Order: sequence, then structure tokens, then C-alpha cells
Amino acid sequence: MIRVENLVRKFGPTVAVKGITFTVKDGEIYGLLGPNGSGKSTTMKILAGIIPPSEGEVTINGIDVSKNPLGVKMIVGYVPETPVLYESLTPVEFFNFIGSVRGIPEEALQERVETFIKAFGIERYLGEMIGSLSFGTRQKISLISSMLHDPEVLILDEAMNGLDPKSARILRELLLQFREEGRSVVFSTHVLALAETMCDRVGVIYNGELIAEGTPEELKEFAHEESLEDVFLKLTESQEEVVGIVQALREAL
Ligand SMILES: Nc1ncnc2c1ncn2[C@@H]1O[C@H](COP(=O)(O)OP(=O)(O)OP(=O)(O)O)[C@@H](O)[C@H]1O
Ligand SMILES: [Mg+2]
Repeated sequence: MIRVENLVRKFGPTVAVKGITFTVKDGEIYGLLGPNGSGKSTTMKILAGIIPPSEGEVTINGIDVSKNPLGVKMIVGYVPETPVLYESLTPVEFFNFIGSVRGIPEEALQERVETFIKAFGIERYLGEMIGSLSFGTRQKISLISSMLHDPEVLILDEAMNGLDPKSARILRELLLQFREEGRSVVFSTHVLALAETMCDRVGVIYNGELIAEGTPEELKEFAHEESLEDVFLKLTESQEEVVGIVQALREAL
């Protein structure tokens, strides 16, 4: 269970997150939606124990991120929006490195590495340097490395980015399995159709504030819209603006 209460994060004069409150239950996939710069990644970095909050309280399965960020990192798997990988290592070397940093028992590590390598079909890249791999393959390596320690909670920042349809389906299956096992997942995406099919509940962040929350069905009903995309555009007041921009483009081009 993830509890976020009055979370505030400042970067100098910028207030990126302005008092957000939400919870993610065990066995729930929670989608974080919001326009560029609205505070999704900042929120997720705090949930993963990467950066501390300025104010407010965040607990992950009872562990306070401010008091025990290392404890949080031990039970959370985090995929950042830009993968942080060691370019000059091969995928296998990188997985072994993660294993030793996290203290994963050798046998369990090898078993998980093998399972994920097969699942994501990256066998043929195992001997190459990460720096030479394609965008999607690097994303797969980032995903695998986030799951090697069998995390209780997953924080995925636009993790479907760059994945081909087969790999996206595999990640989806993995997340559904995670949910079945009672683990919590926080998942940000700009692909609203994906959020609609994957997420049990979604929260819409706008300018650092949580402006709506509910199941995709509830939000559609509430906004009298047929798709989550229309709900999103309505909530973020983009609907008329988008029509205006499209019109201006038509006239200009
Ligand atoms: N390290 C930082 N230093 C200064 N400002 C930052 C830093 N990280 C984020 N911000 C600011 O915080 C705000 C929220 O950024 P954030 O990355 O959380 O947005 P986002 O919702 O993830 O956007 P996107 O959809 O583009 O990924 C932005 O105004 C951004 O410029
Ligand atoms: Mg982001």
C-alpha cells in the first residue's frame, strides 16, 4: 500500500508538486496522468526514494520515504523515464552488478535474469555493450533491472516507451501478474488508451495538483465523455485550445 499525503516538492523557486494526496492499495495498478511538466516524474522519484519530499508524508508498505529512503529502495522497483544504465557493460554484467548491489542471492538472480531475458527476447544482445543497443532494448534492460530483486511495489515512469507491441504485451502481463500477487503498481503514461485498459484507478495531475481521481469509468461518467482522452483534455482545459491549434496549423500550412 502506498500512502501519499500533502506531498510538496520544490526546486528552488519552482513548486513542482503542490500538496498531492492519494493512496494505492495492494493489488492495484494506479495510473498517473498529466501534461508535460505537471509533476508526475517528480512524484514518482519521491515514491521510489530517489529524491526527498520538501513537505508531506509518503509511506510505501509502511516505510517512510523521508526517514528510510534505503528501506524504500529495497522494496521498490523503479523505472525512470530516462534509463540509467552503464554504457560500457554488457546486459549480463549490468544485471550481475545490480544483483551484487542489491545483495540478491546468486541462484535467485540467475533464475530471474534468465526468465526476463527470455520473456523480453534479448538473448542475442547479451554480449554487446549497452551503449550500442537500440532504444527499446535499453528500455527492456532498465525494466528487467527494476524487477530483479522481486520488488513489492513497482514505480514505472512511462515504461512502455519504445517497447514493440510484443514486449508491451509482455510487460502488461507481468503487471497483471504483479497485481494478482497483491503488489502495488504506479504507472505514468501519455497513452491514455493504455491507461484506460491497464489501470484500476487513475489520478490526473495538472500544474502539480491532483485535479481528478477515480476509475477510468468513473472519470468518463463524471466528465460526460466517452474516452479517457476526452476526459483528460476536458480536465486540463486543453480541448478548445487543441481545436484552435489544429485550426491555426491548417491555415498556416
Ligand atoms: N531537478 C529539477 N530541477 C529543477 N526543476 C525541476 C527538476 N525536476 C523537475 N523540475 C520541474 O518540475 C516540474 C515538473 O516536472 P516533472 O518532470 O515532474 O514533470 P512530468 O509531469 O513528469 O512531465 P513529462 O510528461 O514531460 O515527463 C517542471 O516544471 C520541471 O521543470
Ligand atoms: Mg515525466
